[in-house]
Amino acid sequence: MKIRALLLGLIAAGITATAAAADPIVIKFSHVVATDTPKGKAAEKFKELAEKYTSGAVKVEVYANSTLYKDKEEMEALQLGAVQLLAPSLAKFGPLGVREFEAFDLPYIFDGYADLHKVTTGPVGQMMLSKLEAKGIKGLAFWDNGFKSFSANSPIKTPDDLKGKKMRIQSSKVLEEQMRELKSLPQVMAFSEVYQALQTGVVDGTENPHSNLYTQKMHEVQKNVTLTEHGYLGYAVITNKKFWDGLPSAVRTELEKAMVESTEYANTIAKEENDKALAAVRASGKTEVYQLTPAEKLAFKKALAPVHKKMESRIGADLIQSIYKETG
Ligand code: LMR
Repeated sequence: MKIRALLLGLIAAGITATAAAADPIVIKFSHVVATDTPKGKAAEKFKELAEKYTSGAVKVEVYANSTLYKDKEEMEALQLGAVQLLAPSLAKFGPLGVREFEAFDLPYIFDGYADLHKVTTGPVGQMMLSKLEAKGIKGLAFWDNGFKSFSANSPIKTPDDLKGKKMRIQSSKVLEEQMRELKSLPQVMAFSEVYQALQTGVVDGTENPHSNLYTQKMHEVQKNVTLTEHGYLGYAVITNKKFWDGLPSAVRTELEKAMVESTEYANTIAKEENDKALAAVRASGKTEVYQLTPAEKLAFKKALAPVHKKMESRIGADLIQSIYKETG
């Protein structure tokens, strides 16, 4: 124990000496949501821990709310090395050529967070992260957000209630198929543009966990929110592989520790943050929140079930089967 403490002390001292001798290593962490969300808070937590553990040898600059890059640009910026950390939604990796993450978008594939964690903390999750390496990207962690609700400007009680509506989605082929299955018209759009698109009627509705709905004020421009919990939205924390591998190993070790702890933090607060956001949406009185009856929810499950089969050729029947197996 004493030797370990001594070694850690020496590493810290080494890092401090490096910090004093040179400019800090700057890590730009760009994301698209508000600071007051599970991802926004976890990014701040990572900054706090990374700077503390490296004794200032690393400086983390967090850019929230798409202030640095929007959805598509941030992926390109990471590959070019203009930013070092991102946490895009798992629904946004298709355009990069990594389709496996779209399995997370399959309607009703997870029956709650416990089910989801079996995948994100197990071999299937690790396999998915490893698919990023061919793109020059290293996957560091999965961060939770939550389960999505549909919203629109008319009541949503049955799958038919979304028929003919223009629905904003993230850039995922599974989400596109999900909307087509409901006979609505999917429109891929950057997150930063959703509020205005809803306000001006460019789209009629959307889907998101409540923390995103509330912090982007979408509930102020959507009269109806229905607790369908039809799909999951979460994140892969990613870095530029060349950058990460090129870090001094003592620094990288401390950053890995900061990442493990901020991941635990993210995945502890996610549900609570979404529950709080839903309570705030309700309290605002600006939108009607509808809780489906079990029979109504079953109707959504049935209507969306064909999406799994139809997406086998895109994301792989084996992968879908291994998720079914892991979640029991
Ligand atoms: C969305 O575009 O709706 C979400 O992916 C935003 C986010 O990062 O949670």
